Amino acid sequence: DWTMGAYREEAIRKIREQVGDKKVICALSGGVDSSVAAVLLHEAIGDQLTCVFVDHGLLRQNEAEEVVGMFREHYNLPLIHADESELFLGELDGVSDPETKRKIIGKLFIDVFQKYANTIEGAEFLAQGTLYPDVIESVSFSGGPSVTIKSHHNVGGLPEKMGLKLVEPLRELFKDEVRALGHELGLPASFIGRHPFPGPGLAIRCPGEITREKLEILRKADAVYIDQIRKHGLYDEIWQAFVAILPVRTVGVMGDGRTYDFACALRAVTSVDGMTADYYPFSHEFLGETATRIINEVKGINRVTYDVTSKPPGTIEWE
Ligand code: XMP
Repeated sequence: DWTMGAYREEAIRKIREQVGDKKVICALSGGVDSSVAAVLLHEAIGDQLTCVFVDHGLLRQNEAEEVVGMFREHYNLPLIHADESELFLGELDGVSDPETKRKIIGKLFIDVFQKYANTIEGAEFLAQGTLYPDVIESVSFSGGPSVTIKSHHNVGGLPEKMGLKLVEPLRELFKDEVRALGHELGLPASFIGRHPFPGPGLAIRCPGEITREKLEILRKADAVYIDQIRKHGLYDEIWQAFVAILPVRTVGVMGDGRTYDFACALRAVTSVDGMTADYYPFSHEFLGETATRIINEVKGINRVTYDVTSKPPGTIEWE
């Protein structure tokens, strides 16, 4: 795409002009925005960029390995893998309120990012994958009354606190343009087309108290579900799909034994921007096959339900 080719060159020129020979740090989540921003910055300033990948222990199966592997090995990008799962899961122990979970995770995220960023001597810039809609949203919300249904965590306020200047190379772009730029930069299509994943991760897909046991079960069930969706060629038709593990055990039978295991809910929605959403109309065959696979392949789950709530009145996530 010639337009994105030109944009890329221009963006690189601007980054070099802004940053000079100074160092830049960047929080890499593995999501499309931060990934595209990181690769673009790396192209512009090479090893002056260091990324920090905060692993809060609430990621999906193999997610940390895949993200770290891709950026370190494939892009040769200086990357700190901050494995802080013990810290996050420790602080979340016994916490069941959704907003309290978000606050704890958001605060720890900033603490951890800051701790690692401080190890990078002479860093003067913080890079963020802020998009144009984020810019507009923060402007239109300021001043007027705003109703916050769920607090979304980001690193707002952090640059000032750390005395860093902001670099936001995607500030003029919409989501589809960021994807096009990612494509232009050679990011794999599977990466660019990934469903959005919330900052608090699996914490909000584990309603009620989070335990390591539930997280382990949830990861396995989610992996089977996404595998089913990909095998049936449905992944790109869906905005987001995931499993939530429910805070209830139910009775089942398996062979000639009684089971007493967790129930889970499958979620899949179509949406344009996440603000409203419709549940995805899977066939009964697909749902039945997926339920059978999850129950057979995931120890700890003996009941599978499908969530047919649209947004509004539901939200996409369960918390
Ligand atoms: P809801 O559940 O509010 O989700 O319908 C709308 C979109 O936002 C994502 N989401 C979050 N993302 N931090 C995030 O970074 C959060 O706390 C959070 N809560 C929801 C959700 O995955 C969906 O894409």
